[in-house]
Amino acid sequence: MCGIVGVVGNKSATDILMQGLEKLEYRGYDSAGIFVTGGNHDSLVKSVGRIRDLRSKLGIDVAGTAGIGHTRWATHGKPSEENAHPHTSATGRFVLVHNGVIENFKEIKANYLPADSFKGQTDTEIAVHLIGKFVEEDGLAPLDAFKKALGIIEGSYAFALMDATDATTIYVAKNKSPLLIGLGDGYNMVCSDAMAMIRETSEFMEIHDKELVVLTKGSVSVTDYDGNAISRGSYTAELDLSDIGKGTYPFYMLKEIDEQPAVMRKLIATYTNADGSMKVDSEIVKAVQEADRIYIIAAGTSYNAGFGAKQMLEALTDTPVELGVSSEWGYGMPLLSKKPFFIFLSQSGETADSRQVLVKTGELGLPSLTVTNVPGSTLSREATYTMLIGAGPEIAVASTKAYTGQIATLAFLAKAVGEADGREAAKDFDLVKELSLVAQSIEATLSEKEKIAAIVKDLLLTTRNAFYIGRKSDYFVAMEASLKLKEISYVQCEGFAAGELKHGTISLIEKDTPAIALLSDAAVAPHTRGNAMEISSRGGKVITIAMEHVANPDDDILVTNVHPHLSAIAMVIPTQLIAYETSSQRGLDVDKPRNLAKAVTVE
Ligand code: F6R
Repeated sequence: MCGIVGVVGNKSATDILMQGLEKLEYRGYDSAGIFVTGGNHDSLVKSVGRIRDLRSKLGIDVAGTAGIGHTRWATHGKPSEENAHPHTSATGRFVLVHNGVIENFKEIKANYLPADSFKGQTDTEIAVHLIGKFVEEDGLAPLDAFKKALGIIEGSYAFALMDATDATTIYVAKNKSPLLIGLGDGYNMVCSDAMAMIRETSEFMEIHDKELVVLTKGSVSVTDYDGNAISRGSYTAELDLSDIGKGTYPFYMLKEIDEQPAVMRKLIATYTNADGSMKVDSEIVKAVQEADRIYIIAAGTSYNAGFGAKQMLEALTDTPVELGVSSEWGYGMPLLSKKPFFIFLSQSGETADSRQVLVKTGELGLPSLTVTNVPGSTLSREATYTMLIGAGPEIAVASTKAYTGQIATLAFLAKAVGEADGREAAKDFDLVKELSLVAQSIEATLSEKEKIAAIVKDLLLTTRNAFYIGRKSDYFVAMEASLKLKEISYVQCEGFAAGELKHGTISLIEKDTPAIALLSDAAVAPHTRGNAMEISSRGGKVITIAMEHVANPDDDILVTNVHPHLSAIAMVIPTQLIAYETSSQRGLDVDKPRNLAKAVTVE
């Protein structure tokens, strides 16, 4: 979703802004722009489409020592140059980039601003006009005008503001939307995430909600909105530039799929001691032990990962697990148990929908854990506890290694809690061995890429719709498998409980409709096979993905055996490859599917 980058100091702003925007591309966007000042003249350049389209519009005269840039994911107004950021005030003096949604922008427009002064339809343009009015009509200093506007603006925002008459300062504020300061020698930066600045610096400073930052090349001043100074230390990010390159891979998604065995092994190293015992924060274990119900709150793939871990968590901790879609729970929690424990699953740690629920649990004084891939992310900072997945940056919009990493991380939590409770089921579950087998199983599936590519070519290349079916844990994998296929290949796909199909949805099966059956559980595999027969009897084309212990000689894709608690991890791998192949064979941009954003920072 929208990305912000800004720099002030002694370097080439154009170069820093453009490479920063390229690093932010993965978040999802439909237009982009930069404002550069501090050179011979100021430049404002915008473009619809990719960063390369913006780059092609830059002349060598777009040069200076300060500037702000933005990738826009349209919310208010269609993708167009008028709606692309940076936006300017009525006279052009103030220049603003924004991530978030200003909820009262219509009221601001009606109460403070002339109706006919806007170029586009965005909420952001209204904010910058408001700041401009407070300076140019009411005589406020820029900082005071910004503060006054922040007192009026409601909603979510990360703002970076420049005054074209002052190339030495960037004004920054945030509420709910992510924003970080990057510290350099002779320059300072602001950005939506560390990745956009990592080429320039690995030293960062957090900004919290409702804080205002004034950035110059040699100083960073942080205050609250009342002007009280806030002192905050910096931290060093452990990101490596090579982590965020795609090497020889055609797409990040394939690289990230391939990284999953390493992610499993790294998790073993992170969450076990040398003697094989669990190394999970005892405070987290105690908090879960005290709970009478675990609530997993998440969105999209992370929500599906919650289902992938549910049965294992319940089996090892003997505590019921309930799943909640964050965008629903944010607007109304169901009746909670007496001692709830909340787990927020989020690859990015920035999902606004999940954060909304986290804020509510905080208000209720309930304990919470964020399981995330991004240290220092908003959900990580604001939950009581954090467990990191440590999968390395996930750049492809379609989440793969974060899904499997989330389930594996929860396995360590489940085993640690179960053991602390003295449960035999937990003691008997040799997680280190079983997860090592999962890593091997993933490797075996990865060696079947050509076979999977051929199946896709035969069955999925031109289809408009498809089904994944499964029972129990395979049903949960079917949900994730169908989401993956939908989001990157635009095939309309449903993940269905195999037995439920005949209660209505089977009427959608036509000649050649592909249906992929997932089979990993001996207790239900024969029933799923029966449902698959029902589909093929009606003309559908069935593909089977079977774990070896339930496999038949004519199954299409085999998955080597893993422990049932971890089967969602092993079974999802072929489906990730199916989605990848379908998208790439159709010639689509696998990593950046249309309309989607990586970090969904609006509700
Ligand atoms: C799909 C995908 C999304 C995210 C969802 C939540 O591949 O990645 O469905 O899972 O937007 O994002 P996080 O996990 O960052 O909270």
